[in-house]
This record gives sequence, C-alpha cells and structure tokens, in this order.
Amino acid sequence: MSSQAPVVLITGSAHGIGFATAQKFFANGYNVAISDLSDEDIASALKQLDSQGDRSIGLKVDVTSRQDIEAGVAKIIAKFGRLDVLVNNAGNFRQGATDTYSDSDWDQITSVHLDGAFKASQIAYPHLKKSPAGAIVSVSSIVARVGLPMRASYSVSKAGIEALTRTLAVEWASDGIRINAVAPGFTESRWWQDLQDRGLTTPDKLVAAIPLRRLGKMSEQAAAIYFLASSEASFITGQTLVVDGGTTVDVRI
Ligand SMILES: NC(=O)c1ccc[n+]([C@@H]2O[C@H](COP(=O)([O-])OP(=O)(O)OC[C@H]3O[C@@H](n4cnc5c(N)ncnc54)[C@H](O)[C@@H]3O)[C@@H](O)[C@H]2O)c1
Repeated sequence: MSSQAPVVLITGSAHGIGFATAQKFFANGYNVAISDLSDEDIASALKQLDSQGDRSIGLKVDVTSRQDIEAGVAKIIAKFGRLDVLVNNAGNFRQGATDTYSDSDWDQITSVHLDGAFKASQIAYPHLKKSPAGAIVSVSSIVARVGLPMRASYSVSKAGIEALTRTLAVEWASDGIRINAVAPGFTESRWWQDLQDRGLTTPDKLVAAIPLRRLGKMSEQAAAIYFLASSEASFITGQTLVVDGGTTVDVRI
C-alpha cells in the first residue's frame, strides 16, 4: 500500500545539513528516509527526528555503492510504496595540494559527491517518475564557481553536480521530474569547526569573506533545499540556488 504523504530520501542525513533537511521535510508532513554510513548515527538521528518511528526509515547506504542505494530504495518502497523526492547531500572532504594529491584522494571525493549523485538519481528515477511531483535537489557548493585552493576534486565534483542537474532537468522534464541544486557557502558545520580546531582557519577569517558577516545556518540550507523540492518552485528546474550570504558576488578589495 502506498502512503498518502510524499516520501523523501536524503543521502548523508544523519548529520549536518542533511539532518536539518530531514527535519524540514518531516515538519512539512513528508515521510523521511534517513540514510548514512553508520547504523549508530542513523539510529540516533531517527530517534531525534521521529520518536514514534512511523513516518521515517533508517537506511545504511554508502552512496558509492550502487547495491547499497538499490537496497535502500527497495526498503523505502516496501515501507511507504513511493518515493517523491531525492536529496543528494552526502559529502566528504579532503583538502590537499594538487601536485601531491593521489589518484585515490581524487577518487574518494568524486566517488561520493559526483558518482554518488549520479547513481542515486538513476536508481530513484523510475520511482520519481511515478510521483505526481517528483523532484531531485542536489547539494553543490560555492566552490563549483569560484576558485578555492587545495580543493580540486571537491570543486570539480560540485561543478559536475551542477552540470548533471541541468542535463537531467532537460532529460527528465517530460517525466514531470524537476531537478535543481543548492550551492551553500560557509555554513556552521562540523567541517568548519574541525578546521578551526586544527588552527586552519578562524571565525574572523570566515566571516570576513561573507558580506552578511556571519556563517550560514544549516536550517537556511535546508529551507532552500525544501523550497526547490516543493510546489512553490513548480516552474523551476535545472537551476542552482546559491545560499552564501553574498560571498560569491563580492569582489571588493
Ligand atoms: N558545511 C558547509 O559549509 C558546506 C558548504 C558547501 C557545501 N556543503 C555540502 O553540504 C553537504 C553536507 O555537508 P555538511 O556540512 O552537512 O557535512 P557533514 O559531514 O555534517 O554531513 C555529511 C554527511 O554525509 C555522510 N557521508 C559521507 N560519505 C558518505 C557516503 N559515502 N555515503 C553516504 N553518506 C556519506 C556523512 O557521514 C555525514 O553524515 C555536502 O555535500 C557538502 O559538500 C557544505
């Protein structure tokens, strides 16, 4: 039996922007599939999201594995009978000088961000096609459009996600599926905390790069992701919405 409420699958959603996005969809009546790498993290996210447990499902899915994604989507269909929205959010991070970056460093980033988004979109497609309002929102980054040293594989992956967004938007438009992306700027998260803890940046340095003079909140990224998936954005497809407090339009020196 198919659930009345629409269903969203968010990759990498036990933490961070993915979890904030899960909360946003849940608050708006969606049934939510939390997927991530660790059973323990998934269980703790589910407990926080849905104390009753009847409007959510936890899936151990490594987005580099086609098999994992297929098994996860099959579990969603078995529980809810439908899949309406896919959010490609899973991400890892490894900065490093390009001249010393190994093939394996490169692959570890591109396989999660870019290949993961491709595989999940492909596997979700037959189900999104059946939805009255199928949508994909992928999480890019401002580094898809500006140069930030030491992030070659990450930047290329994010630029690839935006290209994939445009291509699929056109290819799957006749199936009624809208495909968009959100490009966050510097957002309060474990990453920036970790970089600060390791002395690689400071809050002052980060904030100085942002015209609105503060880091973005995870809930602000979640709101943009939700908007693009919702009927409020029913004539928007193939676009990337930059949510960065003005960072990428600031060329003052
Ligand atoms: N935080 C920022 O400032 C910022 C800026 C631009 C873009 N982004 C993007 O936002 C997204 C979320 O990042 P975040 O800041 O919330 O980080 P985060 O580390 O808190 O969340 C990323 C999640 O992805 C999961 N993940 C990693 N590899 C995975 C894999 N192979 N399969 C499934 N899940 C996997 C992690 O376990 C984690 O739960 C990422 O795509 C990131 O590139 C973040």
